Amino acid sequence: MTEVKRTGIIGVGKYLPENILTNADLEKMVDTSDEWITTRTGIKERRIASENEAASDMAAKAARDALKNADLTPEDIDLIIVATITPDMFFPSTACQLQHKLGIANIPAFDISVACSGYVYGLTIADQFIKTGMYKHALVVAAEKLSAVTDWSDRSTCVLFGDGAGAAVLGPVEKGGILGASLGADGSKGDLLQLPAGGSRMPASIRTVENKLHTIKMEGNVLFKHAVKIMADAALAVTEPLGFKGDDIDIIIPHQANIRILYALAKRMGVDPEKKLYLNIEKYGNMSAASSAVALTEAIQEGRVKKGDKILMDAFGGGLTWGAIIIEW
Ligand code: ACO
Repeated sequence: MTEVKRTGIIGVGKYLPENILTNADLEKMVDTSDEWITTRTGIKERRIASENEAASDMAAKAARDALKNADLTPEDIDLIIVATITPDMFFPSTACQLQHKLGIANIPAFDISVACSGYVYGLTIADQFIKTGMYKHALVVAAEKLSAVTDWSDRSTCVLFGDGAGAAVLGPVEKGGILGASLGADGSKGDLLQLPAGGSRMPASIRTVENKLHTIKMEGNVLFKHAVKIMADAALAVTEPLGFKGDDIDIIIPHQANIRILYALAKRMGVDPEKKLYLNIEKYGNMSAASSAVALTEAIQEGRVKKGDKILMDAFGGGLTWGAIIIEW
């Protein structure tokens, strides 16, 4: 195996379902208001996948978009990682289904279940395989259909989530690329955000369905406080070893859970949120792992990322899990 020093992102892609659910639509479904949702979260609308559209369908569209952007074909890919907490089914994995949809076979394909931190985890895992020379090109896809696990009668969660997918093709690069990453988890706080039923702990039954235990349960305000500190600590864990201060980062592309969390993060990092934060939460809400994947894709497509820029991606989610990564574009 030849040792490759650096891994870069050589193509990005996304897929967002066409169907838009606005705050005005939600006002007709639960006791909420556009004013509450906008001021408390920053969300104006979110995308909702169609009934026959599962995570792997969205993943395949985002993956094809990223492959096109990288000027590669599915046959060039050596490894597939899919980050999702809404897989098509328990098994086979969504990554295996994606592999089949892309018309390829035999290469390794697996899912990772780290909620909103999934894209940062996925990029970091792929980096290890590429920089050791074990694989040349990796496809990292984050795809979520959170609408399928949302309790549409619970105003405290249903206004937050949306569906979508983002993807990246990674490969060896001469310079720049992934400069550093830091991952973490704290299982003791797992009960703050969970989907209780359907697993081996509480298999599906009439009771679990009646009690809506197949939907997301979240202690939002407790999580909020953890989120700000954990994301700030994660940023520090990746910037400090590189000797970077907040100002050395050109753009922060964070997981988009709540605009207030992100402004608080910028404040803790001592950076101007208007200049450094990339936000698209207004259009899509929280798409778990897909949020940062779509945000990176859009930031690049909109020309917000220039050659040589240092990007900080910073995510936090159920588990609890967190991760931060710095990429030189
Ligand atoms: N419309 C109107 N009122 C509402 C709504 C709503 N949609 N939802 C809650 N409220 C009410 C509550 O009932 C409460 O009323 P009360 O004061 O009369 O009891 C009041 O608003 C305040 O509720 P809080 O939960 O304290 O509101 P908060 O300001 O904390 O905002 C939110 C809630 C948006 C969920 C916020 O806490 C948050 O973003 N938390 C972090 C979420 C997160 O980061 N999750 C992890 C990543 S997600 C993943 O991994 C999949």
